[in-house]
Amino acid sequence: MILSANEATIAQAAQALRDGQLVGLPTETVYGLAANATDDNAVARIFVAKGRPADHPLIVHVASMEQVPLFATQVPEFAQKLMHAFWPGPLTLILPRQSGVAAASAGGQDSIGLRCPSHPVAQALLKACADWGVHGVSAPSANRFGRVSPTTAAHVQSELGPDLLILDGGECDVGIESSIIDCTRGEPVLLRPGQITRAQIEAACGHAVRAKDAPQDVGGQVAPRASGTLESHYAPRAKVRLMSAQDIAAKLQALGPHANNLGLWSAERPEDGAGLGAGVLWLAQPQSAEQAAHALFSVLRELDARGVQQIWVQLPPDTPEWEGVRDRLQRAAA
Ligand code: TXA
Ligand code: MG
Repeated sequence: MILSANEATIAQAAQALRDGQLVGLPTETVYGLAANATDDNAVARIFVAKGRPADHPLIVHVASMEQVPLFATQVPEFAQKLMHAFWPGPLTLILPRQSGVAAASAGGQDSIGLRCPSHPVAQALLKACADWGVHGVSAPSANRFGRVSPTTAAHVQSELGPDLLILDGGECDVGIESSIIDCTRGEPVLLRPGQITRAQIEAACGHAVRAKDAPQDVGGQVAPRASGTLESHYAPRAKVRLMSAQDIAAKLQALGPHANNLGLWSAERPEDGAGLGAGVLWLAQPQSAEQAAHALFSVLRELDARGVQQIWVQLPPDTPEWEGVRDRLQRAAA
């Protein structure tokens, strides 16, 4: 059931969360499937609804920095700087977890992922929840495990069915999930790239950001599990192939009129006749990384809905602002 977000429906959703129900929640990145973070039974329903393994930890969403000490035991100085710079916004911080709090949500890890979203509906809902005594809301992306993340209320309904209460907050602005920084290893480690770039993170906290698979010193620790970091993820039904603009042009040329059931997401529209036949459905890939991130998951869904068998995607440049989009594309193609 999709409800347009307003004061009354936000209050209704907050009560549903307090009562242990699940809610589809708009954020600035993607839609989340929300439950009271400290209600282990409610959190268990998230794992069932998504078909997600129970040991994959969820992000806990909070209304403000004030709620961090309820969930985290200790916040290093660089993490504090990151909160001040980017919250509310698309940045998740992994911190040491208060023992006994949100254990199911953390998937058994002794750390916890915290994020303060900026979407006005998410903010209003989290504040309403806090008034009801619910100080953290666990919310993974509201898609079935391994599939494409939803960026509209209709996407959520098509993933999870008509019974779920979904607050409609419009299209998500950012379009790809939050950047995740692990703050439990003495220095920032980037677990998942997002709209906020490595350089912005380094500038804000004054530390070099380590890549998650850097071979040096993982402090003897096992890297935390992160499903958004599995090699194959964000997968549409159609097979995704990443190619350069030149390869796309050459392959279309070679296929000629035989190109069939093919979706194409590239910057330049192929010339009619020389590739863009009736069997090729072309969608324009925006030139800016921000706009491409905003469009990415809808494009994959739309091409799937049109029944194409393959999706050819022009691989964007290997520059810092494209890191998040390239990461999602590489997983979609894996
Ligand atoms: O933008 C987002 O972050 C969205 C919206 C809804 O807020 N949420 C999201 O959640 O992307 P999800 O569950 O699809 O991805 C969360 C990622 C997963 O890869 C999870 O494993 C990782 O965060 N994660 C959560 N807690 C963690 C922890 N304690 N240690 C390591 N990774 C963690
Ligand atoms: Mg996800």
